[in-house]
Amino acid sequence: MSHRRKLAAGNWKMNGLWADLAEVTKLMERHPDPGCEILICPPATLLSRMSDLTVDGAVVTGGQDCHAKLSGAHTGDISAPMLADAGAEHVILGHSERRADHGETDEDVRAKALTALDAGLKVVICVGETLVEREAQNTLEIIGGQLAGSIPDSVTGENMVVAYEPVWAIGTGKIPTLGQIGEVHDFIRARLEKRFGAGVGRSARILYGGSVKPGNAAEIFAVPNVDGALVGGASLKADDFSPIITALENSR
Ligand code: 13P
Repeated sequence: MSHRRKLAAGNWKMNGLWADLAEVTKLMERHPDPGCEILICPPATLLSRMSDLTVDGAVVTGGQDCHAKLSGAHTGDISAPMLADAGAEHVILGHSERRADHGETDEDVRAKALTALDAGLKVVICVGETLVEREAQNTLEIIGGQLAGSIPDSVTGENMVVAYEPVWAIGTGKIPTLGQIGEVHDFIRARLEKRFGAGVGRSARILYGGSVKPGNAAEIFAVPNVDGALVGGASLKADDFSPIITALENSR
């Protein structure tokens, strides 16, 4: 749908040192005036420096998680206002690695999203089924439950992005069939329209994530209701992320 601005998002996860900011410089040089939005979510340690680096460029930055509380005695955690203060415009929430490694529930994700929205951040809410759930043909039920539980009522089409990331496709080199991707994205679109109405439901972007690479990006971006990608490993190097961005720019 042409009215939704496409989004190429990189999730650096627990990767990246100061020297790796050179990759972001390279990326901005290659895409001075991109035909899509480019978001990079580095580790929190790099956020401030990356935000300074990209302030005049086409890349915006985001965090990978935030706490549900605004401040307080939560050693090692980071708050939404801190992310915004460091220059972040977005925050990824409910990534399957957070759900698995830190036991985050849909309720946790929803609470974090409310705080992030209050801090003026846009939220990228992740959903996705495990292989066991897919093989048991529970994919849509799982995704439906995650959407209902994780997304607060107050979102708009501008401040909320959904990322569909099948857990079994993350970092494995395996991707669903294009038909499977299309089925889930259509389902997410329908659920958003039903809950939030056509305005919000049709303007919110839905990203695909899980083993997106230069070699498969174009075919994934041709699937209806795929408005971009949330890219892990292939977002770390400009040589990998740049062709994915180009494929998105060239998609419908
Ligand atoms: P990979 O692209 O490395 O599979 O990771 C996807 C992901 O989890 C992005 O959030």
